[in-house]
Amino acid sequence: MIPEPAPTVRELLAFYLEAGVDCALAEEPVDRLAELDAPPPAPRAVPVEAPRPVAAPAVMRGEAALAPDVAIASAREAARTAPTLEALRELMQNFEGCALKHTATRLVFADGNPQARIMFVGEAPGRDEDIEGLPFVGRSGKLLDLMIGAIGLNRTTAYITNVIPWRPPGNRTPTPQETQICLPFIQRHIELVNPDVLVTLGNPSTQTLLSTREGIMRTRGRWFDYDTGSRTIRALPTFHPAYLLRSPSYKRLAWQDLRAIAKLLAGA
Ligand code: URA
Repeated sequence: MIPEPAPTVRELLAFYLEAGVDCALAEEPVDRLAELDAPPPAPRAVPVEAPRPVAAPAVMRGEAALAPDVAIASAREAARTAPTLEALRELMQNFEGCALKHTATRLVFADGNPQARIMFVGEAPGRDEDIEGLPFVGRSGKLLDLMIGAIGLNRTTAYITNVIPWRPPGNRTPTPQETQICLPFIQRHIELVNPDVLVTLGNPSTQTLLSTREGIMRTRGRWFDYDTGSRTIRALPTFHPAYLLRSPSYKRLAWQDLRAIAKLLAGA
């Protein structure tokens, strides 16, 4: 059999791009398959007297890869203990139970005003957000800014975050497990911001936060009750700006949703 010629650099790069690999995570390549054969690292000693600002369960010390149900339980326990947004950010920074953290460049926590009456929640950061560490700063973020600007809001009067705080590699869809692991954090995040209106952007955010299986075409523009754990707030699903960039004809319906939000904020 005649051996295949080795691919050229151009062919390899084209293959990577097609597979969704669009940025380098480090200067040097890492052989992840070799890591699988390597013996597990010895547990790290944690000094007993070391002060910890917030409770840190085992999953946050990175001692071992956890089964998904253990990671979910651990995220729940950790999120519950966060008394403030800063504490929540720190807990998430130290949380080791979600594999996405290890491929993302950084945590994308939130942007905007934590005192805002309105909170927008998207799905997960993309490449630009991963680089800047802020949600919705890429193309869809620019459209989101225009959308909220149309009802007199901006990032000093609105609060913006995502269900998933780490970029999935190549912008792939987060797995149901990853979503479940991150869910307690976004739920606590919403409870701490305590907005009057929660806007879920797109299907994944809507289905995850509003516990519905209906698609965005049926849910958008319909008011839901969202129970933060401390009170019930009004929630409105609308189209994700990335979807509107692909399907601009739906901007008309998004505009209706924005007007409904403005009306509620105005107390009408
Ligand atoms: N899409 C999202 O859902 N969130 C972002 O932060 C950016 C793009």
